[in-house]
Amino acid sequence: MTTRKKPKVYITRKLPEAIETRMRELFDAELNLDDRPRTQPELVAAVKSADVLVPTVTDRIDAALIEQAGPQLKLIASFSNGVDNIDVEAAARKGITVTNTPNALTEDTADMTMALILAVPRRLTEGARVLTDNHGEWAGWSPTWMLGRRIFGKRIGIIGMGRIGTAVARRAKAFGLSIHYHNRKRVSPQTEEELNATYWDSLDQMLARVDIVSVNCPSTPATFHLMSARRLELMQPTSFIVNTARGDVIDEDALIKSIRSGKIAGAGLDVFEKEPSVNPKLLKLAEQGKVVLLPHMGSATLEGRIDMGDKVIINIRTFCDGHRPPDRVLP
Ligand code: DGY
Repeated sequence: MTTRKKPKVYITRKLPEAIETRMRELFDAELNLDDRPRTQPELVAAVKSADVLVPTVTDRIDAALIEQAGPQLKLIASFSNGVDNIDVEAAARKGITVTNTPNALTEDTADMTMALILAVPRRLTEGARVLTDNHGEWAGWSPTWMLGRRIFGKRIGIIGMGRIGTAVARRAKAFGLSIHYHNRKRVSPQTEEELNATYWDSLDQMLARVDIVSVNCPSTPATFHLMSARRLELMQPTSFIVNTARGDVIDEDALIKSIRSGKIAGAGLDVFEKEPSVNPKLLKLAEQGKVVLLPHMGSATLEGRIDMGDKVIINIRTFCDGHRPPDRVLP
């Protein structure tokens, strides 16, 4: 009997212990125990020697890197839902399959979107800071203090009605919001009926009608700065926008100008254009209570990360067994 050689799998970031243990058992796994983000030269060395690369959203897997991959690299099994950091076309040209982890983080990301939808108009972070910044000292309740805006009965416009957008819509409906959405194509009549959702073919028209905009589409060349200065102008002065997708879907400079000039009321952002750096002007707006900022933690639950890891493992095993991996992006 011959024992099959374990695939050499290079993992760029620290993963939950349970996932690392399984990876060690199943693969010839090179782990990143101290979680230091890998440099481009380290990634080059990895693609020259590993059979499988497991990157995350913090790694830049561009054409230049893929070009340097050795012939042994056959799979990029991304530990992520989004693959905007991977040049999937360049990988396909080199005969490298790319997989991702869809669905593992749908509910968690939708929860965090809802948290921002509540946090912005109800001044959650501002209120919490009153206590922590003043060591628990506050003047007490007053009828006119810390007044936010009600969300019940308002209209939400969801940009991108995929899995996460739909999960946001379900939650928003339960909070008494009416659902509007813009997507490349309409969702099924059953889903529209379940959510009592209104489809807007024209994003511009939807933006002018809703009170809350939720960005839930992927980052692609077509969605880059989809929320441009012109589109932000279409929103109502009392409306606000939340983004748990990718920073570059919103033109961040234009967003800052819109909020500063009062053209829109605020924003809740979990993602930024130049992550991990955050525009200081956004931090200033956060101090003024106009925006709520989170450090890209929409999908950050232990359960979600384990589900993502399980998916990565299944994709690698299926691929190495000669079958089509379930979460294949390309080719
Ligand atoms: C992803 O996997 O795309 C997420 O943004 C990580 O939170």
